[in-house]
Amino acid sequence: MSKSDELAALIRDRAGEAAPEYGLVLGSGLSHLAGQVEGVAIPYDELPGFPHAGVSGHVPQLVIGQLEGVRIAVFGGRAHYYESGRPDAMRLPLEVLATLGCKRLILTNAAGSLREDLPPGTLMMLGDHIALGGPNPLIGEPSEARFVPMTDAHDPGLRTGLRRAARAEGIPLGEGVYFWFSGPSFETPAEIRAARIMGADAVGMSTVPEIILARFLGLRCAAISVITNMGAGMADEAISHEHTKATAPIGAAKLERLLRRFLRDQ
Ligand code: HPA
Repeated sequence: MSKSDELAALIRDRAGEAAPEYGLVLGSGLSHLAGQVEGVAIPYDELPGFPHAGVSGHVPQLVIGQLEGVRIAVFGGRAHYYESGRPDAMRLPLEVLATLGCKRLILTNAAGSLREDLPPGTLMMLGDHIALGGPNPLIGEPSEARFVPMTDAHDPGLRTGLRRAARAEGIPLGEGVYFWFSGPSFETPAEIRAARIMGADAVGMSTVPEIILARFLGLRCAAISVITNMGAGMADEAISHEHTKATAPIGAAKLERLLRRFLRDQ
């Protein structure tokens, strides 16, 4: 039995057999939603191989249950490339999600904005991304499946549904290109200017390796950033992790409303 089969069996024992309709990965300062799910919470400590509590602002547990009548699996904590140097740090949790029979994944993150019309507190859905923050998480994968097409990595159908939910809730939802930087240091102003020239609209330290892994596993994906700050050099405010955690809840409340509506309208 593979590790993901074993963990999936353990999770089914605790949370029931039914496959989650959606997986949801929560970013820094966005963990409130996990507490809204009616279901079973399993701390990552009880799921061998799942990431350890690394970054404050993340609650390391998997919650499986109902939100707006839809069965979902919520990953409260994510592993980042910068914690271990391993871009595939989220591979096992995503493999387990796929093994549970889940077919769709929505990722959230906190990000810095490169666009004046996307100020702190707003939401940006990823229309595409630039994966220059580190090595590809599929390096070393032996199967031919490693040659994953990334053309519609951000699923058009899911994005249409998320746009519709945002409109129905009256929540402005920007859309743009997310540039993956490795972190953990923030970007320099020159790196932010370079990212803008390369076509990015937001920058962050997560999500992109997960999208690549999830596409490899056959999951349809969409991701939304909560903008917590302008990119380095674009505003007077100092950029810090404390600031990210403090600002994220402003956008997170809107994101929660949007996601609830999205699920309700399925
Ligand atoms: N850069 C990278 N990651 C981030 C930022 C940023 O400005 N804000 C929140 N996460």
